[in-house]
Amino acid sequence: MTAPTKSEQDRVVIFDTTLRDGEQCPGATMTHEEKLEVAELLDQMGVDIIEAGFPIASEGDFAAVHEIAKRTNNAVVCGLARAAFKDIDRCAEAIKPAKRSRIHTFISTSPVHMKYKLQKEPHEVYEMVVAQVTRARGFTDDVEWSCEDGTRTEQDFLCRCVEAAINAGATTINIPDTVGYTVPEEYFALIKMVRDRVPNSDRARFSAHCHDDLGMAVANSLAGVRAGIRQIECTINGIGERAGNASLEEVVMAMKVRNDVLPYWTKIDSTLLTRASKLVAAATSFPVQYNKAIVGRNAFAHESGIHQDGMLKHTQTYEIMTPESVGVKQTSLVMGKHSGRHAFVHKLQEMGYQLAGNQLEDAFVRFKALADRKKHVYDEDIEALVDEEIAHAQNRVKLVSLTVIAGTMGPQSATATLDIDGRHHTVQSTGNGPVDATFNAIKTLIPHEAVLELYQVHAVTQGTDAQAEVSVRLAESGRSVTAKGADPDTLVASAKAYLGALNKLMSRRQRGQPEALVAERRVHSTEAG
Ligand code: KIV
Ligand code: ZN
Repeated sequence: MTAPTKSEQDRVVIFDTTLRDGEQCPGATMTHEEKLEVAELLDQMGVDIIEAGFPIASEGDFAAVHEIAKRTNNAVVCGLARAAFKDIDRCAEAIKPAKRSRIHTFISTSPVHMKYKLQKEPHEVYEMVVAQVTRARGFTDDVEWSCEDGTRTEQDFLCRCVEAAINAGATTINIPDTVGYTVPEEYFALIKMVRDRVPNSDRARFSAHCHDDLGMAVANSLAGVRAGIRQIECTINGIGERAGNASLEEVVMAMKVRNDVLPYWTKIDSTLLTRASKLVAAATSFPVQYNKAIVGRNAFAHESGIHQDGMLKHTQTYEIMTPESVGVKQTSLVMGKHSGRHAFVHKLQEMGYQLAGNQLEDAFVRFKALADRKKHVYDEDIEALVDEEIAHAQNRVKLVSLTVIAGTMGPQSATATLDIDGRHHTVQSTGNGPVDATFNAIKTLIPHEAVLELYQVHAVTQGTDAQAEVSVRLAESGRSVTAKGADPDTLVASAKAYLGALNKLMSRRQRGQPEALVAERRVHSTEAG
């Protein structure tokens, strides 16, 4: 039987905003290199438009958008700009090297936003829509206009603005549910109303950008598609402002698995979804909820006896899609201390990693050390190790060694040696418990004002010899960063995670945010070369 032909009319364009809306949410900051790696995978998996950042926001954002624009092969590279000429001009500069580029400009149109946030009258906002879209069209013929807080916008005004934006040259009209307030029926009716009433609506593609404050971002986006929307803005793992955005993996798989009732399609290679989820989770250090649809670690796990029995008889009893269709490989006992470099490289390739040179050498040495200490080395162990190795390579401060004295007889003490910009420094500190002592030692070497907001430990795999994976979130100057560290020793994993977060704060300072680390590093230690 031949597969039914897919019509271009039914194709839903995937606009990924992981690197913009996703990255701007508290704690999800990524380094420059991490952003490039995420963009490369998005391009490879078939994302149509990559919103790579908000170029005017910082030098770092500009640099990332510019570099992604240079490197991206297939996707359109998009930058965000507020309704201001300086934003649009900066955005145009950032996306210039792209093969195909887009400027995405937005302004709030709801009464509450216009009155309190913009302090502007509707007629002023209307004029800004025309002026900004016109300005953007001077740089590229692919311009997207968004009416921020669109779902709470008065309908006549919304229609007038949409019509004006299209007349000024906008080729995509995005109707965001900025505050995650709408429900599917209402969003369907809103999109249908706009498309029916706006006389030139056939000259633009309509887009959904739904937030998940009531847990309906995916359902709302799909309702929008049924009403004629042909672009969904979404993020890997659903990260984004507050409760996040519609999750890319969920919208893609919903249309694929339920094509009978949602007869639309995307160009996404779904077998890369799990890899993308893991990459973004590692880069942002945002853990993926265990029961998250499609990419959660329990999404294909069957625990109860009845379910297991059913699965053994026929997988379709409890699985509506195959794990392979989203790129899940069964957890396997992979390697041990006798595995050689060749097997290790092969394993990395199979898992989608491309390490070379020193990074590969270092990862292999660390794998051997782990295999010596740990009886079974699982895929998850290798993943934790390699993700850490990738982050480690960019860090200015690295852990060289740590010795901790703990137990019932306090105070607990820690002696840490750190490599700071290539020089070793050692210090000893005490604390209220071994983790406190470890963090105090690090803080003595890297003085800072950041506040520890989160300290979380979980086991990467099972058993008492499992690696501990520690997440640390530090907040400073109103922004927070999160990092992970993994090691069979929980305290070493804690030190790595803490240093990872400090390194992220420092790299943010380098990207032009001088408030990132309040105190310059003062070394009160013995310098050891
Ligand atoms: O949520 C929102 O309205 C946005 C716009 C910038 C599109 O992120
Ligand atoms: Zn948003």
